[in-house]
Amino acid sequence: MTTPSHNNRIWITIDGRSLQVPPDITIREAAALAGVEIPTICYHDALTPNAVCRICVVEWRGARTLVPACVARVADNAIIQTNSRRVRTARRTLLEMLASAVDLSQAPEIQAMMQEYDADPDRFGPEARRRETGGVKDDNPFYVRDYDKCILCWRCVQVCAEDVQHTFALGFNHRGFDTEIATFFNLGMKETTCVFCGNCVGVCPTGALKGKRLYELELRGDS
Ligand code: SF4
Ligand code: FES
Repeated sequence: MTTPSHNNRIWITIDGRSLQVPPDITIREAAALAGVEIPTICYHDALTPNAVCRICVVEWRGARTLVPACVARVADNAIIQTNSRRVRTARRTLLEMLASAVDLSQAPEIQAMMQEYDADPDRFGPEARRRETGGVKDDNPFYVRDYDKCILCWRCVQVCAEDVQHTFALGFNHRGFDTEIATFFNLGMKETTCVFCGNCVGVCPTGALKGKRLYELELRGDS
């Protein structure tokens, strides 16, 4: 594709469709202009993209690896496939790994993705290690934390920090598979800088953070 660019716009091809787009946008944004929706999990409109989940990967012709569409920016004459076999296989594997380790029973958007990509977490067998973080943390009147349901998307940490609230009550503990969202020194929420704004609950995509009222209704079987 060698058509010259005009008006400070560049040519790209997405899923076989050529179009002109601004030069400084991400692949995700360019795909939206082409009418193509790329799945995301860690991405949130109000937060700085951190590209930790990798569900949004796409194939960029000539690139050695798949690239995350939520942060990678388009370039002139890029040829991008958002739904190729390689892309779908990567997304399916990622979803299977997530679901084999984390309780996604209250993550309807991710469940829908699992159907879309035909993900089968049982492929990893009964020995697959699961997140076990010691049960629901119920230490304040406003919300509970159940990190067995946490996919480490980092949204809650970001919304609590510079992106929105500037409260910095949340961080993480441990490394690798054992990484866990946590308060400093694992203090109860009331002993931290948390102001109980509820933003972290609002951005959590898996039900790991939940308002206390809803949690209690669910325990009683009323919701
Ligand atoms: S608690 Fe929710 S928002 Fe925070 S990292 Fe885990 S899944 Fe993401
Ligand atoms: S949505 Fe792009 S890496 Fe998570």
